Amino acid sequence: MQQATIINLSYLIASVLFIFGLKGLTHPRTAVKGNLTAAIAMLIAVVVTLLDQNIVGFGVIIAGIIIGGAIGMLLAIKIKMTDIPQLVALFNGFGGGASVFVAGAALIEVSVKTKNPELHLTVATVVSGLVGAVTFWGSLIAFGKLQGLKFANDVRFPGQQLVNSLCALSAIGAGILVVLNPTSIIFYWLLVIVASVLGVLTVIPIGGADMPVVIALLNSYSGLAAAATGFVLGNNILIIAGSLVGASGMILSSIMCKAMNRSLGNVLFGVLEPTADTASADEVYAGKVKSTSADEAAMLFDDARRVVFVPGYGMAVAQAQHAVRDLATLLESKDVEVDFAIHPVAGRMPGHMNVLLAEADISYDKLKEMDDVNPTFQQTDVAIVLGANDVVNPVARTDPKSAIAGMPILDVDKSRTVIVIKRSLSPGFAGIPNPLFAMDNTLMLFGDAKKAILDLITAIKES
Ligand code: TAP
Repeated sequence: MQQATIINLSYLIASVLFIFGLKGLTHPRTAVKGNLTAAIAMLIAVVVTLLDQNIVGFGVIIAGIIIGGAIGMLLAIKIKMTDIPQLVALFNGFGGGASVFVAGAALIEVSVKTKNPELHLTVATVVSGLVGAVTFWGSLIAFGKLQGLKFANDVRFPGQQLVNSLCALSAIGAGILVVLNPTSIIFYWLLVIVASVLGVLTVIPIGGADMPVVIALLNSYSGLAAAATGFVLGNNILIIAGSLVGASGMILSSIMCKAMNRSLGNVLFGVLEPTADTASADEVYAGKVKSTSADEAAMLFDDARRVVFVPGYGMAVAQAQHAVRDLATLLESKDVEVDFAIHPVAGRMPGHMNVLLAEADISYDKLKEMDDVNPTFQQTDVAIVLGANDVVNPVARTDPKSAIAGMPILDVDKSRTVIVIKRSLSPGFAGIPNPLFAMDNTLMLFGDAKKAILDLITAIKES
């Protein structure tokens, strides 16, 4: 068999494995296998590509795999579950940055060799440079925001939309200059600089509840940049893998937009909802919040028939999932029906709650999606809101000026009693007060999520 045939066959196998990997990732039960399948596909793609280039030997390939694998393993072990979104942002950024340099290097090489690169190559280079630079800088800002770094604080000024639009037009203008003068590399770097500014300007004003969509969108951009680089290099696997990342990121962005009631256009161009008129914490809470103790709360379960846990970011911070499983098992042993209500953007990454609950061996059948569980809250005796805040905030339904206006929420307030477990009355990610905490049927059990659940278990056992 000829070398070209072997290489294309390997690329085909890798592509099929990528698709099976993605399919596996669509369900928690098959996610680990899916991840492994996609990792094997990537290994095949990288090794075959390097061998195809005939510029590096096996020694270099193995050394690269060992060094890259060690860095990846270190990151996977060291990074806390709650910091995964930042890591994803960085990975997206690296992908975009790599596309900028690889496409630029290919343009330099071809310009020097042929003096007249073909049109399709320069157009692909422009797309790669533009999208890659936006992705790199946008992702660094997104990383900074999620990490709480000062340089990434929200920056908003009058006429921001206009400035962003002018910047986007300038980037397109610079791209046209590259296509018209492909041998003048200076225009390519001009494009990269303008696109970098665009990346910073587009993401810097975005804050609060929009962040998950931005990460998913940047993920999609990194895929599109990689696919464009695939066209520059004439590399099929890069085109296929980049398209898969681009398409899946776009689908995820649109699912997230729906879950947060934001349009993709809004997020793309950094349009902000007014928040200035949102009620202050004092107005919402003063004199209305009732706190409870574990012993008092335990009595509520004496005659409860149905209990729903509503986990949020706080459960992840406290690593309370194993304690939650023990409480659920205890309640079930007392013939209580127990379910878990999962909001699509609870926590800090897509599927965050599913992963944590799966880690604690909580059966997937007990995890109910928002549309399925919402109609059941009226028949729920006790809803335990565990470190969740924005995803149960009723202002999303009632205040059109709030940062989360229109975001579908879990209707826990319709339950007979709501126990909210969190450490204080501090706001959640969106930074706004939550009138749920002051409702007549709500009791606040202040404390760390894990400790509070363990205290509840002890109190229920003793009661
Ligand atoms: P949040 O609204 O962020 O609220 C989490 C609450 O957990 C906080 O109010 C905090 O209150 C509490 N908490 C923190 N540590 C705790 C601990 N050790 N024990 C008990 N409670 C603790 O969380 P949510 O309801 O899950 O909503 C998610 C938010 O994040 C949404 O606004 C969403 O748009 C955004 N977001 C989501 C994602 C994805 S993809 N899921 C990504 C980025 C952002 P105390 O400090 O008072 O304890």
